[in-house]
Parts: sequence; structure tokens; C-alpha cells
Amino acid sequence: FDASNSEVFRPLFHHTPRYGWMNDPNGMFYKDGVYHLCFQYNPYGSMWGNLSWGHSTSTDLVNWKAEEPVLVPDGLGMIFSGSCVVDKENTAGFGKDAVVAIYTSAGASQIQSLAYSLDNGRTFKTYENNPIITSDKECRDPNMFWHAESGRWILVLAAALEREMWIYSSPDLKNWKKESSFGRGYGCQEGVWECPDLMQLPVRGTDEKKWVLICNINPGGPFGGSAAQYFVGDFDGKTFTCDTKPEVTKWMDYGKDHYATVSWSNVPDDRHTVIAWMSNWQYANNVPTKQYRSANSLPRDLGLYKVGDGDYYLTTVPAPETLALRGKKTMDYGAFSVGKNGVAKKLPVANNGICEVNLELDARTAGKVNITLSNPKGEQTVLTYNLTDNSFGMDRTRSGLTDFSKDFPAITLAPAPQGRKQHLRLFIDRCSIEAFDGEGRFVMTNLVFPTEPYTTLSISTDKGRCRVGNLTVYPLEVENNL
Ligand code: FRU
Repeated sequence: FDASNSEVFRPLFHHTPRYGWMNDPNGMFYKDGVYHLCFQYNPYGSMWGNLSWGHSTSTDLVNWKAEEPVLVPDGLGMIFSGSCVVDKENTAGFGKDAVVAIYTSAGASQIQSLAYSLDNGRTFKTYENNPIITSDKECRDPNMFWHAESGRWILVLAAALEREMWIYSSPDLKNWKKESSFGRGYGCQEGVWECPDLMQLPVRGTDEKKWVLICNINPGGPFGGSAAQYFVGDFDGKTFTCDTKPEVTKWMDYGKDHYATVSWSNVPDDRHTVIAWMSNWQYANNVPTKQYRSANSLPRDLGLYKVGDGDYYLTTVPAPETLALRGKKTMDYGAFSVGKNGVAKKLPVANNGICEVNLELDARTAGKVNITLSNPKGEQTVLTYNLTDNSFGMDRTRSGLTDFSKDFPAITLAPAPQGRKQHLRLFIDRCSIEAFDGEGRFVMTNLVFPTEPYTTLSISTDKGRCRVGNLTVYPLEVENNL
């Protein structure tokens, strides 16, 4: 089909399906120089239904090529979320380097099924003895990895309504034994638990490594609806133990549009690269696009850092591949001082103004520093560093189209790093703003639908003065925008 683009809000440097509906990223793996991204996909319309696994590939994580769907509903039901691994040692017997997918078959109940690919993930064959895991509880979104220390595959399954993550082990990807369960009473318990991922990450500046369990929840997010929480602790091959008290909730991202976040498997150099579905179940079916719905976040690399009280938190930085999006021209605004009246700078006009903005702030005598993105129609998104309570906020209540859902207008808040000096990296696409703390200590991902691109960035204080340093705007360039 021809999906010639008539969508004014279709992102230019974020992955979207050419046509139809998309939710969770699925079954992501890397093999022979290619990143594979499958996703919850309705090929027949732009609302949730008929769930299949759509498929796109990329060699650089930022330019995506649409491929044929790899899994479509069968006698066991729709194809819900799951994961893929590369079976290098042929433990399953399908063949050396077979790509093995385990996913939820959603029919009368939710059971786990296996499919494998012998052509590098281009096509998959379903396993004749499916299902491979059953339960009388609602269980979904199996996520697997190879655990070298115990010489076993590990699979984490979300027992959605129990608000537990069940951990299984297997020698061969086909026969799974339940080892343990984590979650009862931990973290945010408001909604269902979905889309787990368990990984070991290095702690910045040390030789230490800790385990992180990602747990997507819906609803119960900090600003309503969907969000991703995580737990830091240890994993001994059978059981995950959380370091922090059960009542502590840690959020991966402080925006409203960051859900179903999981990582690529088999990425070289021990990288843990994740991608999110950039929407929220509160309004995902109602956002103002027609041919398709939903985009993914930028790919992000995860790590950990330890704070003064001995607790560990995730660091999230844009995958370094995103640097390749920077075009040849940069808009270098250097350093300057701002006060209450503010200073306005132009944003690029090429490619609908898609850009990355880098800036440093020294808030000096200011109480709040506002960074406002606006267009000639008066639509604006306001980012605020509040130095009194060390928060970072994003106000999208007047950002453009907001009235398609009562849950869309919102102000989201993140804990900003302590201190008056801040470093921010912003990625602005046609319908999204991703704000990264320069050192990866918070991320905030929000959709915005301005009816014209934002053309101005202004910085002002509530009182006193703020020094702005190294304000650089990078117009972004993409190869294969639809
Ligand atoms: C999360 C989710 C998963 C499920 C899929 C169905 O957004 O509800 O738990 O597998 O979407 O599309």
C-alpha cells in the first residue's frame, strides 16, 4: 500500500508504523549489524485491536525501515507483547543463531507461546507444542535473557493483576520452571503490572554492578495513567531482591508519554538500550492522527548512579547514535545573562523545526528559570527549573491541540539534580518533547501537538538573574522520513 504521508504530526526522527495502530515495542534484538524492532500492531486500523507483531529494522537506531509483520493472530489468540533472543549455542535445537521469540497468546486466557526464525528475524514459525507456559492467572509480556552465571535462560512474566513479576528458568527456551516471584507490596501498586525487563547495569564511576527490574504500570503513573517504575537490587539466578524499602517508587521517566519500556537483546559492548511507547493508555486511541497512531521514544542507554544516601538510581541518556541526526549547521547562541524580561532565540525552520537543544544554566539569584517554546499562534510549552525545591517541570496545558482528552493537558514534574547549575538536552519533534538532564539523572517525555511548529525559545527568570551557557540548537536531519 501507499502510505503517502498526510499527517502533520507524524514525527520525523522517531519510529512510527507506516499505517495502523502501534503500542508496546516488542521482541527487540540486535543481530549482524541490524537492530530489529517489533511492536504491538493493528494493521487494519489506527486503534487498538487485531494485535500482531509489526516489524521495522535499522542499522543506526534512528533511521527505520518498515518490514512485513512477523507474527499475526492464530488459533491461540492475538499476539501480545514478548521478547526475542538469539540462541547462539542452539540450546533450543531450532538451529545455531536461531532467533527465538516468546510472546503472550491472548485468546480466552493469556498463555505464553514460542516462535522462531531461521532467517535473521525476517519470518517466524510458531512452535508446534505451544503454549509453553500456562497459568490460571492473567500473565503476559514474557521477557528473556541468557544468565551466564547459572547457564540458564531467565524469563520474567508479568502477573498483571497480582502485581507480581514471576521469574522462570530454562535450559532450552522450551521448558520453563517457575523459580520465584517478586513484587507483592512493592512500589506503585495502583494499576496492573506489565512489560517487565530484568538486566544488570554498571554503577557509574565504580566497578560495581546491580540488577534493575523494569516494571511498567497502568494506571498509577505519577501524572495519571501509564508509566514505568523500576526496582534496583540483586539477582542470584532465581530470585530478585530489592534493595530499597517496599514503599519507595522509582520512576524511569517523569513525563506522561513513556510506557512499555524494554531493552534490545544481544547488543554488543554490554549496552542496555531501551525504547518506550511514547503514549499513555489514557488517550492513546484519541491523539489527533489518522492513518497511524503512536510513535516510539528515542532509543536510550541505561546505567546506574549511586546517590549520597547509598541508594541507586537509573541514568538515562539518548543513545549516542542520536548524535548522527545533528545536521551540518548549528545555531550557536553562546553564553548570556537573562532576567525577568527574558531573551528570545530562534528555533530552526527546516524540517518542521525538528531539533536538539543543549543548554547550561547557572541560576544564580533566580528562583525559577522558564524555558518557553512557542509559535506565532501563541501555543507554548513551558519548561521550568524551580531552584527552591529543585524540580524540573513541563507545562503542556497550552501546547497546541489538547482538547481530545481531559487527561492530556498536564504539568509534569521531575526531581532535578541538586544545585543551581543545570544542563539540559531537549529533543523536539513534530509531536513530542523529550527533556534529558545532561548527565542522565532525569528524563521527561511528553507529547505535544502544536498546530504550527515552535519557532522561538525564550528564557526568563521569575526574579534575579540566570547565566545561560553554551546554548546550542542543532537542526536535525533524517534520511527516510515518511
Ligand atoms: C501494555 C499491554 C501489554 C499487552 C499489550 C497488548 O501496553 O497491555 O501488557 O501485552 O499491551 O497490546
